Amino acid sequence: MNLLVPEVTPKARHSDTVIDFSRRFVPEQFTPLYHTPVYSRLNADEQLRYNQLHGLYFNEQIMFFERALARNVLGRLLLSPIRKSLKPGLIQFMEEESRHSAMFLRLNRQCAPQLYAHAEFYFIRPSPIAGKLLHVISRQPRRFPLFLWLMLPLEMDLE
Ligand SMILES: [Fe+2]
Repeated sequence: MNLLVPEVTPKARHSDTVIDFSRRFVPEQFTPLYHTPVYSRLNADEQLRYNQLHGLYFNEQIMFFERALARNVLGRLLLSPIRKSLKPGLIQFMEEESRHSAMFLRLNRQCAPQLYAHAEFYFIRPSPIAGKLLHVISRQPRRFPLFLWLMLPLEMDLE
């Protein structure tokens, strides 16, 4: 599989969404390579494709944290002794996270069907130990409240 070439021709149609591969997926300033001298050595097509691949990776990052954290952090808080008035908000938060993850996966599958045909992640593949560690730690939101705080800035107006 050649990642340097989009899997479909420009402006190919996938379901009801048109993916325009002639455009960047994210602002250049959001990509690490843009801030290095080597970026200027890439030609325009390479810069564009790098940007698009980084956009897919960016979506994976958000999806990873939503999947890894929402159910564990929010689910555990729901099971803990909290004010009854907080529960509907936590449930809504979990439901929104689930919808967001599904949206990012759908978008990545539309942009790169071969990369995501049989897997939800292509670029992010945590080791089993790292995955287990995150799972164990995130299920203790009162001991490690940083995960709850981490989730909040990820929640921009997606809907
Ligand atoms: Fe979200």
